[in-house]
Amino acid sequence: MQTLIFASSNPNKIREVREMLDGLYEIKGLHDIGCNEDIPETADTIEGNALLKAHYVVEHYGLNCFSEDTGLEVTALNGAPGVHSARYSGEDRDPQANIDLLQKNLAPHADRSARFKTVIALSLDGVEHLFEGLVYGHIRQEQFGTGGFGYDPVFVPDGYSISFAEMDKEEKNRISHRGRAVQKLLDFLKQA
Ligand code: IMP
Repeated sequence: MQTLIFASSNPNKIREVREMLDGLYEIKGLHDIGCNEDIPETADTIEGNALLKAHYVVEHYGLNCFSEDTGLEVTALNGAPGVHSARYSGEDRDPQANIDLLQKNLAPHADRSARFKTVIALSLDGVEHLFEGLVYGHIRQEQFGTGGFGYDPVFVPDGYSISFAEMDKEEKNRISHRGRAVQKLLDFLKQA
């Protein structure tokens, strides 16, 4: 079986992707190849950051790899927090402070529509491929649910009346930005 590096140190994300690609590729995370760097995410777009991480692994390790980057894009805030989603309220990446700042900035606006966007960058045998996953919804004024992470308690996907944080994991994965992007990667790898 061929090996594919997932340029992530997040054990939950690695396990999830490993399960999906089971039997097709052996998935290794950054720690598995001895990479303990916090790869700088300095690009000004979600696509750019996904590519940065993939390039880093190709340059330093010469291995086939993919990486992902995600952001919440709010219509009334011209796409913010977007690429800055993790550090919206500051360098300590505090999810509650991020939600509080989002609510404060959104308070004057009637339009509370938003979307999550994930971009996966795959570098396979020297060729790059991008896969995008989107989920549309809106930002609730109050927080609901205890599951998930990040902005999940305030994000309600279109067609639902519950937040991502109230949904069970399988259902969120089925409709989420990340789930959709991973599914596209999977479809591509199956026919590659
Ligand atoms: P990452 O690129 O997956 O690390 O995501 C960047 C930031 O976007 C995270 O720190 C979260 O604030 C937010 N985020 C990403 N995915 C989700 C999600 O599925 N639910 C809620 N917030 C998310």
